[in-house]
Parts: sequence; structure tokens; C-alpha cells
Amino acid sequence: MKLFFSLLWFTAVFITRLQAAKFWDDFYVTYGNENVKYPGSDPGYIVQLGLTNRSGSGFRSKLPFLYGELSMKVKLVEGNSAGTVTSFYMASIFKNWCELDFEFLGNVSGQPYILQTNVFSEGVGNREQRIYLWFDPTADYHTYSILWNQALIMFKVDNRVIRVFHKATDLGIPYLDYQPMYIYSSIWNGESWATRGGRDKTDWTKQPFVASYTEFNVSSACSLKDGYVTEDLHACYKMLYQSSYGQPPNLALSQSQIDHLKLIQKDFLIYDYCRDTKRTKNVPPPECSRNWPSITLSSAITAASTESHGFSVLDLSPKLSRDRLTV
Ligand SMILES: *[C@@H]1O[C@H](CO)[C@@H](O)[C@H](O)[C@H]1NC(C)=O
Ligand SMILES: *[C@@H]1O[C@H](CO)[C@@H](O)[C@H](O)[C@H]1NC(C)=O
Ligand SMILES: *[C@@H]1O[C@H](CO)[C@@H](O)[C@H](O)[C@H]1NC(C)=O
Repeated sequence: MKLFFSLLWFTAVFITRLQAAKFWDDFYVTYGNENVKYPGSDPGYIVQLGLTNRSGSGFRSKLPFLYGELSMKVKLVEGNSAGTVTSFYMASIFKNWCELDFEFLGNVSGQPYILQTNVFSEGVGNREQRIYLWFDPTADYHTYSILWNQALIMFKVDNRVIRVFHKATDLGIPYLDYQPMYIYSSIWNGESWATRGGRDKTDWTKQPFVASYTEFNVSSACSLKDGYVTEDLHACYKMLYQSSYGQPPNLALSQSQIDHLKLIQKDFLIYDYCRDTKRTKNVPPPECSRNWPSITLSSAITAASTESHGFSVLDLSPKLSRDRLTV
């Protein structure tokens, strides 16, 4: 009987969540309201963020999260998207903040987007990786997700891991394990650096530039109230050990995930901070060998040299100052 009632309760909660996957249940617009649209017959199921020469736009989750598997489907700006940057990221609001970034750098028609990811722990980022995707991200919706637990953080695209950041406190790298993070998304003008290092500018005759989002899924994550206290963090730690995202097999990469990461590394990686000899001064940061599993850095990523893509550290600086404005 007890089991029956708990099943009933579980089903009720689950169904509520499924029906409630509306944008405004979990998110609100942070800026550029005039460029935000809710198309379709079921308003709030899809949200479109637009960029014009007057303003970009963005949204944020109402609540912060500590651990979980969080995902969103995104369809990027079609046609000539050069100069535009569409982001989906999580960030905490502390001075020494934590942040996990997906940033989509647009391109001229027919040329590939770049997906840039980054990880900040306690205010320190500089961990950019850039890949090409294996599909056209403007043709359809694709799922971008973050799985975050006590052992690792996986960045996934259509449920395939493209990057992993393992806990490495033993190597002196702070882990993202106590700062709840909000989910953000925005579209903005990054023409000074985003496309071919700033050589292709935004073509404003094509405005508005529109990215579409749907299926906001935060149902498998621990959310906290605004103004949470330490006890609330403990509730998230507890939930971690009772949830699928905090249990094996999610505490380590599976063989198929390792194989997919190898494929990413071999065929899709175009920039990796671990391999940027100018930035690392030939000493890769300690976490690098752990995060590219079973592959030694010296051999496998030579294809990902930075020189040929004209990408430099300076290219990255405008994005944070711009995005921080929305926090
Ligand atoms: C923005 O674009 C519109 C339409 O092309 C144009 O009329 C306007 O002058 C532009 N504004 C700025 C600030 O560039
Ligand atoms: C845009 O296309 C060019 C030419 O194919 C490519 O070099 C570049 O990596 C692509 N992406 C971006 C964001 O510049
Ligand atoms: C939401 O995400 C969780 C974890 O990835 C997944 O199990 C669940 O099926 C997703 N729900 C929907 C409605 O997509």
C-alpha cells in the first residue's frame, strides 16, 4: 500500500513536471524583452531570442541549481549568422564564480558554426575548447545538456559527450561543488571576435537574428530557493546520492563515451586550451590529461593546433564583460 501511494505521488509529480515544461515556469527574460517571442499554438513551449542592432536578448532561470542533468533544445540563427554569439550557460553569482559555457559562434551562410565550451572554477576560466558540430545546428533543434555531479561535469550534444571536466582537487584544481548556478541564455553581437577571429562582421541587413529554444528540462536537478541557506545545500547533496545523475554509471565515462570523446578529439576539435602552447608555456594545466581519458596529450591532439585558425586569447575577452551585464 505504501509503495502504491509513493508510486502515485511520484507519477503525479512527474506528470506535473512534464506538463509544466513552459518557458516561464522556470525562466524569465533578463533583457531585450522587445526581441523575445513565443511562437506557435502553445505559447511558452518555444521561446525565440532575437538580436538587432539595438539590442540582444537573454533569459535566466528563476532558481539556482546544485548538481543535476539540465538540458535545452536549441535551433540556431539560420543563414548569415556571422558575428552573432548564442549562449547557453550556467553561472553562480559569487565573486569567485563558477561557470559552464556553451557558446555558439555564427558564420556566413553555408559555413560551420563553432561550439565553444569553457569551465570556470572559483573565478578562473581560460579553459576554452572549440569544436565543429557533426550536423547543421540551424536546420533543426538539437539537445544541449550538462550533467553535473560530485565526480565530473559532462557537456553533451544530443546525449553524446563532447567534453568532460573531472573533479581534480587532488591536482589543486577547485571543483564546482558548493556554488549553485543559474541557467542563462543570450544572443548578442560578437562581431569583433566571433567569426574567423573578427574578419566576418554582422550583416545588419539580415536582422533580427533569431535563435529558438524549447523543451527546457530541469526536472532531474536540485534547485534551491533564492536566499538559500547551508541546510538547503545539504538537501542537494542528499538528493545527489539518491538521483540517477549522482549514481553509477554517471560517475565515470562509459566506454562508448570515451570512444565518442576520442572521435571529437580526432575529427571535430579545432581549438583546445590544453594544446595552446603559447598560453600554457608548454606545460598543459594539470587537469588536461585527466579530462581527455586514455589519450596522451602529446600524441592525439596535434591536429588541433591553434596556429592555423588564427585564434588568440584576446579574441575571448569581450564575451564575458558583455554577458556579465545580464547577471
Ligand atoms: C539599425 O538598423 C535599422 C534598419 O536597418 C536602421 O534604420 C538603423 O539606422 C540602425 N541603427 C543603428 C543604431 O545602427
Ligand atoms: C566559419 O567558416 C570558416 C571558413 O570555413 C571557418 O574557418 C571558421 O572556423 C568558421 N566558424 C567561425 C565561427 O568562424
Ligand atoms: C529530462 O531530463 C532527464 C535527465 O536527462 C530525462 O531522464 C528526462 O526524460 C527528460 N524529460 C523530458 C520531458 O525530456
